[in-house]
Amino acid sequence: MRPSTKSLFAALAFTALAAASGAGIAAEVKGAAPTDPALIEKIRKSNAECYACHTEAGLKNPPRADMDLAALTKFIHDPKQFDGSNHTGMECKVCHGQGYVAFPHAPEAKKSISECGECHATKALRVETQFEASVHAKNLKDAFTCQTCHDPHVYKVAAKVGDPRKIVAQDNAMCVDCHNSDLRYSAFSTALPTKKVRPDLYATHDWLPNARLHWSAVRCIECHTPVSPVKSLATSHEILAKDKSDKACVTCHSQDSALATRLYRYASTNVGADLGFANAQVLGSAYVVGATRNPLIDRAVIGLFGLTVLGLLGHGAVCVVLALIRRRRTS
Ligand code: HEC
Ligand code: HEC
Ligand code: HEC
Ligand code: HEC
Ligand code: HEC
Ligand code: HEC
Ligand code: HEC
Repeated sequence: MRPSTKSLFAALAFTALAAASGAGIAAEVKGAAPTDPALIEKIRKSNAECYACHTEAGLKNPPRADMDLAALTKFIHDPKQFDGSNHTGMECKVCHGQGYVAFPHAPEAKKSISECGECHATKALRVETQFEASVHAKNLKDAFTCQTCHDPHVYKVAAKVGDPRKIVAQDNAMCVDCHNSDLRYSAFSTALPTKKVRPDLYATHDWLPNARLHWSAVRCIECHTPVSPVKSLATSHEILAKDKSDKACVTCHSQDSALATRLYRYASTNVGADLGFANAQVLGSAYVVGATRNPLIDRAVIGLFGLTVLGLLGHGAVCVVLALIRRRRTS
């Protein structure tokens, strides 16, 4: 982590504010979200200064005439999105140092933006070890950072999102925004000695029936990171190379589906709590074919699942036979 006095100061100032307001200091984070109304109002006012320019409204109605509006278009933020993020209630200036207080912003302002580890030392340490072992960190080096995937103004941790579909949509967007965009992907891949061309996601996953459906129901990281039996390590940042990625259907389509301790662990607790269920697991794992804990449903579903897979295999076999016949005819 690059130490930066300015942002460290900002983080400490926030801690001091939070402590003064009686909000206390979260064990893992320097300074928790404030609860004191006076402090909340102070932060709202402070952020409104930035929003005066950095929103759609600001762009339409610029508070100053001497601004590069074309440049500003690239830096438009949505206050609602920020309010729904992990960092809701935080002051923009806590992460964006003194260089951004005045406009025009200081030329070196960018260097003073706080990095995740400055406030999340404990978590960042664990995540960083996994991240350093990922294909991205190993092959794409310094160009690939935490912010490449996590937009600190938007991202909300899965445990707080709860609904598996919404978690999947948020988390997969992090990957797909790049892996489905030639423009963004090539900005990173040109650093590779091979200048790798973006592989087509649908073509590389053609062995997976209905990939589109799977991608709306499970996360990319489910198959692309190692499964750990330790619950607190269930979210891994170690994105593996393709030959080490998981192709086994039974990882999810089985009674002890890995999804129970991964994606569905957020839902299990919620579903259980909402309905007062003692065994939330029963409900929590009922999302995926073959993974319910009810033997009757399971048998019926596995039967259907088997038929579907047989159907697919049959379809594959017919294709192969047809291709062979075609090849014979042409040769
Ligand atoms: C008077 C309008 C105005 C205000 C107020 C303003 N900005 Fe900006 N900001 C801009 C414009 C215009 C740009 C586009 C690039 C440029 O001209 O510097 C910009 C660019 C930026 C950038 C991206 C460029 C870079 O250096 O990385 C960041 C980050 C930023 N502003 C943060 C903030 C924060 C945080 C606040 C509040 C403390 C704030 N701005 C207040 C107008 C403003
Ligand atoms: C938790 C820290 C944090 C907070 C709080 C924060 N930012 Fe940022 N912001 C960052 C980081 C880190 C970057 C650089 C992202 C990158 O390098 O891609 C950034 C980049 C920006 C940019 C330029 C890039 C872009 O995509 O627009 C603007 C503008 C900006 N922030 C505005 C704001 C405003 C306005 C607020 C308050 C509502 C705010 N930020 C609150 C960490 C934060
Ligand atoms: C200036 C300090 C600061 C910086 C820099 C910062 N955060 Fe945070 N972060 C916070 C605070 C404060 C909270 C709210 C803690 C709370 O609600 O208890 C938070 C909350 C979070 C949470 C939710 C924690 C939870 O368990 O609910 C995540 C995840 C997170 N941040 C990720 C990041 C990432 C990724 C970055 C870098 C892109 C980052 N943060 C940068 C201060 C910071
Ligand atoms: C390749 C994309 C990617 C990169 C790079 C990345 N993350 Fe994540 N991160 C994710 C995804 C996906 C999740 C899962 C979503 C969740 O649990 O909220 C996640 C979850 C998290 C969480 C919450 C879950 C947990 O394990 O506590 C934290 C904190 C976090 N990331 C911090 C970081 C930090 C710090 C870095 C940089 C060292 C980083 N991330 C780099 C994609 C990424
Ligand atoms: C900003 C762009 C970007 C983002 C975001 C991103 N990746 Fe990548 N990813 C790349 C590039 C570029 C490579 C090529 C690296 C190489 O081949 O050495 C790569 C490589 C990979 C590989 C290895 C392919 C192989 O040939 O072994 C996998 C798997 C992968 N990414 C999955 C993911 C997942 C899952 C996420 C989200 C959690 C993600 N990526 C987010 C750009 C990105
Ligand atoms: C059901 C498990 C599974 C899911 C879900 C999944 N993948 Fe994969 N992915 C794999 C496997 C296995 C491979 C290796 C395929 C091979 O080599 O034949 C792979 C290959 C890749 C590659 C390497 C492509 C290449 O040819 O270099 C990338 C990049 C990738 N996946 C990204 C993603 C992204 C992004 C998502 C989420 C939208 C995702 N994957 C979802 C299992 C999965
Ligand atoms: C990472 C977990 C995971 C893996 C690995 C996985 N699946 Fe799935 N699969 C799911 C989930 C979750 C659904 C439920 C999607 C829904 O209906 O919302 C699903 C649905 C299906 C369906 C029903 C599709 C439909 O059209 O209704 C079939 C068939 C299927 N999977 C086959 C497979 C096969 C074959 C493999 C191995 C090549 C596989 N799956 C690997 C999680 C997984």
